[in-house]
Amino acid sequence: MKNIPGLKITENSSSKRILDIKIKEEIINELINLFKRFDLTAIEYKPFTRFTVAKYLDDLINNKLSKYLNDILRDRKTGCFIIGPETITTETNDVFLVKLSTAITHLIGTPNHDSMTGKFYARFYVKHEDKSDSYLRKAYTNMDLHTDGTYVKEITDWLLMTKINEHNVKGGETAMLHLDDWEHCEDLYNDPIGRQNFTWGSPKSKNVDYKVEHPIFSSDENGNPKISYIDQFPEPKNMEQGNFLQKLSDALEESKNKIITKLPVGSSIIANNYFWLHGRRPFVENKNILRELLRIRGKFPVN
Ligand SMILES: [Fe+2]
Repeated sequence: MKNIPGLKITENSSSKRILDIKIKEEIINELINLFKRFDLTAIEYKPFTRFTVAKYLDDLINNKLSKYLNDILRDRKTGCFIIGPETITTETNDVFLVKLSTAITHLIGTPNHDSMTGKFYARFYVKHEDKSDSYLRKAYTNMDLHTDGTYVKEITDWLLMTKINEHNVKGGETAMLHLDDWEHCEDLYNDPIGRQNFTWGSPKSKNVDYKVEHPIFSSDENGNPKISYIDQFPEPKNMEQGNFLQKLSDALEESKNKIITKLPVGSSIIANNYFWLHGRRPFVENKNILRELLRIRGKFPVN
C-alpha cells in the first residue's frame, strides 16, 4: 500500500479494488482554517475558488494527492476509492464537507452542471416519505446498479457521492460492481443489441429537456468493456431492445460479485463511471430516517 504522509491508506474491507483513504486530523485541522477564506456562495459563484480549495488540499499532502487519486481512477484494477476525514468533529460539518468534496473533485477534473439543482453539485435527502419521480430518494426500494450521466450530453468520467449526515438509518448500504467481476459481462458485452443506439430520456425532476442516443456497451482504448446504463431511463424502440434491457437488468441484480459497503458519515466514494456500476440497498423502514447526500459528476482534466 502506498505511503503518503498525511494520509492513512488501506484496502477496503469488502474489496481489494477499493482503496480507503483517511485524511489525518492535523491535515483536516489546517484545511478547516484555510477553507474559512471562502463561503459556499463564493464556491458556487466563482469557479476559480474551487481550484483554490483543491490546491490547499493538494499542497498539504505535498502535491502527491492529485496524482495518486488520478492514478487510482484510471487503473482498471481499482478505479474506486473512499476518502474522508480520519475523525469527524463538529467542525467537519456539512459546509466543510461540501468544500472538501469540491476540493477532491477539482483534483480529478471538472464537475458537470447538475441540472437537478442548477449548480455543480447536488445536495439531497433520503427520507421516510418521498413524492419524487425517480429512485434516487426512494428509501425502501432497491436502487439498481447503474452508471451516471446516461441521459445527458456531458461526458461523465467519474462520480462522487458524499454522505453528509444520517440519522436512524439501518440498511441503505452502497452496492458496487466492477465490470471485470461481473459473471455475465462477456455474454452481454458481445451481444450486438448492446451496441445498438438506445434512446435515453429522464423524468421531470432531472430538468433535462432533451433526449440522447448511445449504446449501452462500448470499448476503451485497450479493448476493455465500458458500460453506460441505468434501468429507469432507456426508452426501448422495440421488443428486441426491451428484452435485452430486462436480461441486462436481471443479470446485474443477480450478480454474486456485488460489493456491499457502508459509507461512513463524512466520507466520499469516487468511482470511474465506465467500469464501475453503483446502487443502493433498501433502508429498513423507520419514520425518522434521514440521510443527506452530496453528489458531483464530472470529467477528467482537459489540457
Ligand atoms: Fe447514480
